[in-house]
Amino acid sequence: MNIEVDIGIKISNPFMLASGILDENGYTIKKILESGAGAAVTKSIGMEERRGYEPPVIYENDPVFINAIGLSNPGIENFFEEIKIALMGKKPVIGSIFGKDAEEFSYIARKMEQYGASAVELNLSCPHVNGYGMEVGSDPNLVNEIVNEVKSKINIPVYSKLSPNTSDIIEEAKAAEKSDALVLINTIKAMAIDIKAKKPVLSNIYGGMSGKAIKPVGIRYVYEIKKEMNKKIIGVGGIENINDAIEYIMAGASAVQIGTAIYKYGKNIFNKLNNDLISYMTANHIDNINELTGVALK
Ligand SMILES: Cc1cc2nc3c(=O)[nH]c(=O)nc-3n(C[C@H](O)[C@H](O)[C@H](O)COP(=O)(O)O)c2cc1C
Repeated sequence: MNIEVDIGIKISNPFMLASGILDENGYTIKKILESGAGAAVTKSIGMEERRGYEPPVIYENDPVFINAIGLSNPGIENFFEEIKIALMGKKPVIGSIFGKDAEEFSYIARKMEQYGASAVELNLSCPHVNGYGMEVGSDPNLVNEIVNEVKSKINIPVYSKLSPNTSDIIEEAKAAEKSDALVLINTIKAMAIDIKAKKPVLSNIYGGMSGKAIKPVGIRYVYEIKKEMNKKIIGVGGIENINDAIEYIMAGASAVQIGTAIYKYGKNIFNKLNNDLISYMTANHIDNINELTGVALK
């Protein structure tokens, strides 16, 4: 039975840690890799250290989860040690990066390559930080320039993580065509009101919604883009169990990432997903997980 997948690099199973959850610290990344994840994506790292927003930065009301962390991170020059420790998990570590233009993205991508990352994931889609993320992602010319520039500067695969918040995701995906894979989706811009205090819950007012509630949106984007383009896709958004993961794979994903569910189930979710995948494949007489990618496409 084969559960290895190819996303420009080979990973031993299709389950990856998503950017932003327990992955600013080398030791927690290493632990998650040892708990069965096929690969881990780091927290998005920028040029300089950022403190992020004042609390409250998280609103949790299952199945809805909204965060406005504000891209807090230690800055690329301070991240070498964390990658070094994470790599002791002996599985691929993918460096997620953000910047304001092609030059910043390329600089950080080169550093990630030097530090030993197996690939970089361009965060073109954070919905709650001005000047970065979604604002970058909603400009197809800028996306195109960033992706092409980073591709020309490094020798490891480049993934583009796209925003479900733009008006035309197909245009955005086409602008990122040179990427080795597209990562779909980042969080969806959202907010919540505290009705007792009569004000928004989050200090930043707006945040990004993740968790089970966004899965149908993620599935739709994976399906729609896979139909339109012959690109490798990594699916992310609301995956909590093996059926959710299979749904993404049938819609066209080659691998999937898990984020919010880790708050709910802990890092052991990766072992469970691997065991449940084997059971699913055995019960359904599937020898190779790659046979399932895109089978639901019509
Ligand atoms: C607390 C938190 C922080 C996040 N930080 C990042 C980040 O730094 N970079 C990024 O590309 N995505 C970030 N994300 C988005 C996740 O990687 C993922 O795309 C999204 O949460 C949907 O997947 P999920 O429903 O499995 O969490 C973050 C999500 C959460 C919940």
